[in-house]
Amino acid sequence: SHKIILDTDPGIDDAMAIFFAFQSPDIEVLGLTTVFGNVPVDMAARNALTLCELAGQEIPVTKGVGMPWVGPESTYAHFVHGDDGFGNINFPASNRELDPRSSAQFIVDMARQYPGEITLVAIGPLGNLALALRLEPELPKLVKGVSIMGGAAFVRGNVTPVAEANIWNDAHAAEIVFAADWDLTMFGLDVTNAVPFKPSFMETLKGKNEKLGGFVFNAAKFYTDFYSANRDDRVCFFHDAFPLAHLIQPALFELTEGHVRVATDALNRGQTIVAPEGTTASPLWTEANKIKVATGVDHSKLEQLFIDTYAR
Ligand code: BDR
Ligand code: CA
Repeated sequence: SHKIILDTDPGIDDAMAIFFAFQSPDIEVLGLTTVFGNVPVDMAARNALTLCELAGQEIPVTKGVGMPWVGPESTYAHFVHGDDGFGNINFPASNRELDPRSSAQFIVDMARQYPGEITLVAIGPLGNLALALRLEPELPKLVKGVSIMGGAAFVRGNVTPVAEANIWNDAHAAEIVFAADWDLTMFGLDVTNAVPFKPSFMETLKGKNEKLGGFVFNAAKFYTDFYSANRDDRVCFFHDAFPLAHLIQPALFELTEGHVRVATDALNRGQTIVAPEGTTASPLWTEANKIKVATGVDHSKLEQLFIDTYAR
């Protein structure tokens, strides 16, 4: 099974993804590392502990970066995820204690302990991964790969016309992570926004798994209100579960490759710009790291994978 560290800012789709990882026999979660993003980092860390306690998982949880690499404190996404990050469901917070290490230090320690074995799965802004690269420049050689939820390669953004939230929230950190010499795969809005989930899906998760699916069912009401405000049907999007689904069943996805950079300037901050091979002679692009970009996914098989995994 795949050893992973799940870097997260819970967050409703984060919660859905974390439980999916816990339930999967093909994934071993070594720890949850938290970062600011949907909510402030203190809340992200507490929420991660709460999700572990609910799921009966004793793994380490760390607190990480609380600010973007450059610029002022973030604005957070309470309007998407609720005041509590869980859709205002008044779920009792865990009293468990955090691992005392920073998220970046934990990532480095684990990578040294299991050289070549760990996939870093990042489903929030990328500050912890950028800081881990600064703490241990050899990190790319020590991990197996990196899979992220973030970016919008060939589709529009969700925060600005060109930027997706995780990348927009810490564009400088993202540029560092994208430029590092490791095997990086990006699951952006190209695939995650292509798969709307109806309330019947959340009901199915609850029916299959009262505790974990029931939590997602409750939290997703507020989240679905947000996503449905400008459309006729009621749906929501489980962005963060996609990189995990790819680890478990890579055949569900179509990927392309390209040199990718992250824009950090004001107007296009957070844009993930893909230059396919041979399209430019500029070293700004030809020397940029080549990464894999998810462009397509089998909707019905993906939905079935989520359901079957929650049912275990
Ligand atoms: C991403 O931003 C957050 O709101 C979600 O948790 C997801 O990681 C989607 O753009
Ligand atoms: Ca997230």
